[in-house]
Amino acid sequence: MRKKLAAGNWKMNGSAALLDELANLATQQDADAPQVIICPPSPLLIPAVAATQTSAVQIGGQDCHSAQTGAHTGDVSAQMVKDTGASAVIVGHSERRADHAETNADIRAKVQAAWAANLLPILCIGESEAERIGPNTLAIIAAQLDASMPDGATGDTLVIAYEPIWAIGTGRVPTMDQIIETHDMIRAELTKRFGAEGDKFRILYGGSVKPNNAAEIFTAKNVDGALVGGASLKAADFQPIIDALQAS
Ligand code: PGA
Repeated sequence: MRKKLAAGNWKMNGSAALLDELANLATQQDADAPQVIICPPSPLLIPAVAATQTSAVQIGGQDCHSAQTGAHTGDVSAQMVKDTGASAVIVGHSERRADHAETNADIRAKVQAAWAANLLPILCIGESEAERIGPNTLAIIAAQLDASMPDGATGDTLVIAYEPIWAIGTGRVPTMDQIIETHDMIRAELTKRFGAEGDKFRILYGGSVKPNNAAEIFTAKNVDGALVGGASLKAADFQPIIDALQAS
């Protein structure tokens, strides 16, 4: 059984008030609940860890550099993220790939940096709208997965998030057939590369997950949870998504 996971990506949003909401969410978790990881911006990691200290909610970063230290103004290393008390880190989000020209090779190095710091990387992949319309959608996603994922990954040490770029922040979601087909393909690729271990990786869906569509998305057998942006910014939106995941 793969442990279900609801991850919240706050992106460049967040405030002390939002941390109060987070603390509120934290009090609603119980032992049988899905794993919940909230990823606030770097300056909020320490207060977020403090706000969730007595709960099962875990905190993650949104990115890390692949190097341990150095002349990289504005960046943070995986160990720095770990030192805040965080336990996970998103790597390869499409906004990072676009805004900071991150390549699959960069992202593979970030996964390895996350491992070296004992963080759980949540590795994002996903196609553009043109790639979704084109004939090679699944092959493009498979190639991205293959190139971003280092050898030695296991179900315990890496989570995959499939996020179609055109679905992020747009209110548009793929059809259930598209979600099922893509997640099944990712599972097949993982099994091809990692053998029986391939069945142990968690594959999250991300892109406009909301309280009103979460339950349907979670019916897909290879959807093990969600990476949630906008709807993770309010406990009133995020909690029903967590509840839908628990009920799935
Ligand atoms: P969204 O963002 O839920 O706001 O579409 C998802 C993400 O970018 O991780």
